[in-house]
Amino acid sequence: MTRVSLVFFFAMATFMAAAQNAKQVKMEAFIDSLLQKMTLEEKVGQMNQYNGFWDVTGPVPANGDAKMKYENLRKGLVGSVLNVKGTANVRKLQEMVVKESRLGIPLIFGFDVIHGQKTLAPIPLGEAASWDLQAIERSSRVAATEAAAMGINWTFAPMVDISRDARWGRVMEGAGEDTYLGAKIGVARVKGFQGNDLSAPNTIAATAKHFAGYGFAEAGRDYNTVDVGTATLYNVIFPPFKALVENDVKTVMNSFNILNGVPGTGNKFLQRDILKDKWHFNGFVISDWGSGMEMIAHGFAKDLEQVAELSANAGSDMDMESYAYVTHLAQLVQKGKVSMAVVDDAVKRILRVKYELGLFDDPYRYCDAQREKDMIGNADQMAAVLDVAKKSIVLLRNETLAGGKKLLPLSKTQQKIVVIGALANDRNSPLGSWRIGSDDSSGVSVLDGLKKYSGAITYAKGADLVIGKTDFINEVKINETDKSGFKQAVQLAKTAEVVIMVLGEHGFQSGEGRSRSKLDLPGVQQELLEAVYKVNKNIVLVLMNGRPLAIPWADEHIPAILETWQLGTQSGNAIADVLFGAYNPSGKLPMTFPRSVGQVPIYYNHMSTGRPNPIDLVFWSHYGDVSNKPLYPFGYGLSYTSFRYSGLKIDDSNPAAIKVAVTVTNTGKYAGEEVAQLYIRDKVASVVRPVKELKGFSKFSLNPGESKEVVFTLTDQELGFYTAEGVFITEPGEFGVMVGGSSDSGVTGVFVRK
Ligand code: BGC
Repeated sequence: MTRVSLVFFFAMATFMAAAQNAKQVKMEAFIDSLLQKMTLEEKVGQMNQYNGFWDVTGPVPANGDAKMKYENLRKGLVGSVLNVKGTANVRKLQEMVVKESRLGIPLIFGFDVIHGQKTLAPIPLGEAASWDLQAIERSSRVAATEAAAMGINWTFAPMVDISRDARWGRVMEGAGEDTYLGAKIGVARVKGFQGNDLSAPNTIAATAKHFAGYGFAEAGRDYNTVDVGTATLYNVIFPPFKALVENDVKTVMNSFNILNGVPGTGNKFLQRDILKDKWHFNGFVISDWGSGMEMIAHGFAKDLEQVAELSANAGSDMDMESYAYVTHLAQLVQKGKVSMAVVDDAVKRILRVKYELGLFDDPYRYCDAQREKDMIGNADQMAAVLDVAKKSIVLLRNETLAGGKKLLPLSKTQQKIVVIGALANDRNSPLGSWRIGSDDSSGVSVLDGLKKYSGAITYAKGADLVIGKTDFINEVKINETDKSGFKQAVQLAKTAEVVIMVLGEHGFQSGEGRSRSKLDLPGVQQELLEAVYKVNKNIVLVLMNGRPLAIPWADEHIPAILETWQLGTQSGNAIADVLFGAYNPSGKLPMTFPRSVGQVPIYYNHMSTGRPNPIDLVFWSHYGDVSNKPLYPFGYGLSYTSFRYSGLKIDDSNPAAIKVAVTVTNTGKYAGEEVAQLYIRDKVASVVRPVKELKGFSKFSLNPGESKEVVFTLTDQELGFYTAEGVFITEPGEFGVMVGGSSDSGVTGVFVRK
C-alpha cells in the first residue's frame, strides 16, 4: 500500500467505526425508550414464542389452542411466532400485532430454514462433505434469500452440535464429528444467512444450536442423557459455538439434554456464565421446542411456574412453546423470584435483533408478494444448489476391474445401463429431512438426471424401501419382507453392461427423533444388492443416506460406491453429472463410517489408550470380532484422478507462526479438486491430547500433471487446548504433523514449538 492509500484506508476505517458506533447509540436509545413504555406483561410478551398454527416441529402442547394465541397476539403478549410461511400469512399476523396491540411491536418470524426454504441444498452433513466454505456460504444465502422473500426473519440454524454417533438421527443436520471443520462450516453458514446487514432483503438472523452437548446423547438415542467430561466440553463441544458468537450470530438455542444433571434451558453455567459472561454474547437465547416444560419430566422443576423461574434466571430469553413465561413470569417478578433486570435484559436482547432486521422501520419489509414470486427457485438459486450438491458427493470406491478399467466415470456411449432401487425413482426422499418450507417431491430423481445423459436406461424398482406414508411427522415404516420385485430386477441386471443400484435410507429416516440402532442398508436392500451381484458384478452403488452407514459387504464386493447423502432439489442432476464424469467428485467424509454399529462412537480424533497396539495376546484395547479401524475414515474421499503429496517443509523458527508446506500434484488423467488436510499431534502434554487433530485444510483444483504448493500456518490457536477447567493454554514441545487427502494417510513430519 502506498502512503496515500494507507492514509485513505485508516480514514475510511475510522469513519466506518464512527458510523457504526452512531448506529449503535441510536439503536440503544430507541430500545431504552421503548422499554420505558412497556408494562411488565408486555415485556414478558416479547419473551414468548408461539408455534404459528400451521406446521408443527415438536409435540403439540395441550393448551396450544388458536383462540388463546390470537388473543395474546392482539394484547402484545407474543414476541415471536415460528412455522408461519408465506408473505400472506406473515402479513396477516404482523398486521394483527402492529395494528391491534398497544405498542405495535412487530413480531419476529422464526423458521427451521435448515438446508434451504423451497429450493433445497444437500442436507447439512452432506454439504459439509464439500469442505467448500464458499459454496456452503452461498447455499445458506440462497436459503436466506428465499426465506426472507417468504416473510421469514430468522432461522433456527446452523446446528453446530458435534456428534460422533451415527445412530443419532440429527447427525444429518450438522457438519459431522470434527470441531475444527464444524466451526469453519458453522461460521460460513452464519455469514451466508446473516451477511453484513441484517436488514437487507436477502439476509435473516441465524441461530447456533443446541447449546450444549445435544450431539452426545447416550447410545445415539435422541433427547437422551448426556454425560461428558469437561475437557470434551471445552475442546470439542464449545468451540463451534464460540466461533459463531465471535462471528456475531444473533441467537443461540439451548438444548433438551441435561449436562451435569442440569437441562440446557435451566442451565445457568451454559447460558449466563459461559455464553453471556465469558463469551460476551449479546444476542438472545431461544429455548428449544417445549424444552422449558420438559424440565418437569426431567425431574428438575416441579411445575410450570418453577420452569419459568429457573429458565429466566438461567438466561433463556425466549420461551418456545412451553407457555411458561406468558403464564407465570410476571407474577414471579412481582414475587421477587425473578428480577426486573433479568426481564429487561432479555427483552432488550430480543428488541435489538428486531431493530437490526429493520422491523421497526417497516414491519412488512419482508412481506412483498411480488418479490416472493420472483425469488423462489430462480435460476441463480438452482445453479448454486446444484454446484454444492455436486461438491458434496463422495466417491468411496472405484476399483480397477479385470480389463484394467474402472466403472466410473460412465461413458456416454455406454450401451446398456440398468438402474435398480426405489430411491432411484424418488423425487421426495432426496430432499432429505428438515425441509418443512419446501414442496414434497420437488426434487430431481436419479432417473430424471440420468435420462439427460443416456437413452439406453432401463429401470426396475427391485423393492420398496418404505411402506405407507412418509412425511415429517410419521415414523418411516421400512419394507422388511416384500421381495416380489427382486425377480424382475435380477432379470434386467443380467442384460446390463453396468448396473446402477440406488440404495440407502429414506430422507425421513434421519433427522430429529429418527435414531437407529442399526447402521446397515435398511429393509430388504442388502438382500437385493446380493441377489443382483450374483448375476452381474459391474455394480455402481449410489448410496443415499442421512448418516454414516456400516456397509462392509458392499465395500468388499461392489467395485464402485458413491456417497450422495440426500442432495436436495438438484439431487439427480448432480449425481448424473458425477456418474458421467461431467464433474469429478471431490467430497471428503465429515464423519467416520464404521464397519459395524458396535464400533460407535468411532471418530478419528480419539485419545490414545495406554494399550493402543497389538503388542500382546489379548490384553490391548480392541474388539475380538472386528478391527478398530473404520470402514472409511474421516476426511476420506476419492477422485477420478489421483493426487500425490510430497516435499513436506516445516519452518518452526517462529513459535507464533509455524509454517508447514507441502506440494500436491495431480498424477492422474482428469482435472480435479483436492482437499489437502493438515493434522497435528501434540506428542506429550499436561492433558492427554488426541492422536490426530485437523488444524487446517485447503480445497483447490489441479489439471493433470499440475502441482501446487500449499502452505499452512499454525498459531497458538491451533496448537493450544483447553484444560478441564476451561483455561486455554499452549505448551512447548514436540508435535507430529501430517498433510494428506484423508485423516488416515499423508506425508508426515515433526516440529517443535519452543
Ligand atoms: C428442534 C429444534 C427446532 C425446533 C423448532 C425442536 O424440536 O430440536 O432444532 O429448531 O424444534 O422447530
